Parts: sequence; structure tokens; C-alpha cells
Amino acid sequence: MNIRNIPEHELARLREKAKEINGASSSNEQDYSTLLTRRLNHEPLQYIEEYVPFYTIQLKVDQRCLIPRPETEYLIELIKENTNPLKSILDIGTGSGCIALMMKALYPNIEVTGVDISEEALSIAIENAQLNSLAVNFLQSDLLENIKTENVDLIIANLPYIPENTLESLDKEVIDYEPLIALNGGVDGLEIISRLINQIEDRDISDLTLCLEIDSTKSSQTLDLLSDWKDVKLFKDLAEKDRYVFATK
Ligand SMILES: C[S@@+](CC[C@H](N)C(=O)[O-])C[C@H]1O[C@@H](n2cnc3c(N)ncnc32)[C@H](O)[C@@H]1O
Repeated sequence: MNIRNIPEHELARLREKAKEINGASSSNEQDYSTLLTRRLNHEPLQYIEEYVPFYTIQLKVDQRCLIPRPETEYLIELIKENTNPLKSILDIGTGSGCIALMMKALYPNIEVTGVDISEEALSIAIENAQLNSLAVNFLQSDLLENIKTENVDLIIANLPYIPENTLESLDKEVIDYEPLIALNGGVDGLEIISRLINQIEDRDISDLTLCLEIDSTKSSQTLDLLSDWKDVKLFKDLAEKDRYVFATK
């Protein structure tokens, strides 16, 4: 990337970050140049700045986790408007912990658990729980494999949904920096989501709402996977793309 490709507002933010590292000291210029080189190498601005706002909280982000997307902030909005959790919430594929932590912020009296297969993601989710003083449990598991679900009445999942054979076409910012395990949705992009749906179906759980964030091109296949569920609803994101499916069991 060439410096001319970096918008002025990003350069201003890099200058701010350099100041933050060194206060008013004279080494700002050197820090600025190091940060600029990272950005010229396509590192996402959010990793360079280290913190991002998410809904009403602040999160630390680095290469251990996916950078939370605006679509996921809107998922929080939809969950607030369309679900009524009373007992226990699971966030499967928690990454930075963004969804689990926001659920705890919104429903302080409900038990919230964030689950991830990646130890690295869990380590940053725990840091984010401390940063926001939110009491969320974080557990390592391949989807529900090690997770008890007796009291759970809401499962939220933003799992990897990019088909394996299209990963190469992603922007360098994404494929060179964000964890592959957070992106790779297997052969058709639905491998992990369909495995989660099967795991839930195999368990004796009732009155459970499932909220999924999905690939906009996979809405009809996702609805097919949920053909035995009740109250199946498809929601669009703010760009008018099919993005979320809610269903109850
Ligand atoms: C698309 S990222 C979403 C992260 C976060 N929930 C968000 O919305 O920003 C998917 C997450 O699922 C996790 N993951 C991938 N496969 C998993 C599995 N089999 N079981 C549990 N978590 C998994 C990844 O490590 C990653 O953190």
C-alpha cells in the first residue's frame, strides 16, 4: 500500500496513537513512522489502535481475535428487540467476547457464558471482561462439546462463515491479519453453523432461542437447516442484506 491510499482521517488517528505512546516527547515522529509502516503493510487500523468501541463498551483487539464488525453491533440491537432471555445465555464463537460482554451489560442478572475453540481468543475475551468489569464465564470448547445447556434459553453465534475456497479473495487486511479460525467456514461456509444446529437438535432443550449471524448469500440454506424449528425469522443488516436468522426450539 502507498501512503496516498491511506485516508487523512486514518493518518490523523495514527498520529494520535503515536502521541498516546509517548506523551509529548520528541520520539513521536519515530513512533508515528513505525505505526504508519504497519498500516502500509495492511495491518488493520483497529489492531494498531488496540481498542475499538462496540455498542456501549470498549474492547481490546489484536491478532488473537476477529475485529468486531458493525453487523454484529446491529445483531445486539435485534436481540434486544426480539428476544427475552431469563435464565442463561451462551455466545458460541465469542472471539473478543463482544457479544457475551454486551449481553452481560444489557442483562446483568442473567448468567452469560462465552465459548471459543481458540485459547488465544479466550485470553483476550477474559482481558475484555476485566476491562469492562463484566462477570462473564469463558470456556474452551468445540461448539457445545464441553458445555452444559440445561438452563440455557438463548444461544447466540457469529461463527466463521466464509467458504474455504473464497478465503484467498479476502482483503489483505483480513486474510493476512485476522485469525483464520475466525473466518474459515469450511467447504460451503455452513459447516460449523450446521454442526452447531445438529448439536442443539441432539440435546433435550426446549424454549431455546437461537440467534445466528450468517453470510448474506447463505440465508436460504440456513433456513433449510432450521426447517424443524419454530418462529424462524430472517433479518437484514443495515445494508439490506440477509444477515441474521433467529429461531426457537
Ligand atoms: C467470526 S468470529 C466471531 C467472533 C465474535 N463473536 C464477533 O462477533 O466478533 C468466529 C469465532 O468462532 C470461533 N470458532 C471457530 N470454530 C469454532 C468451534 N468449532 N467452536 C467454537 N468456536 C469456534 C473462532 O475462534 C472465532 O473466535
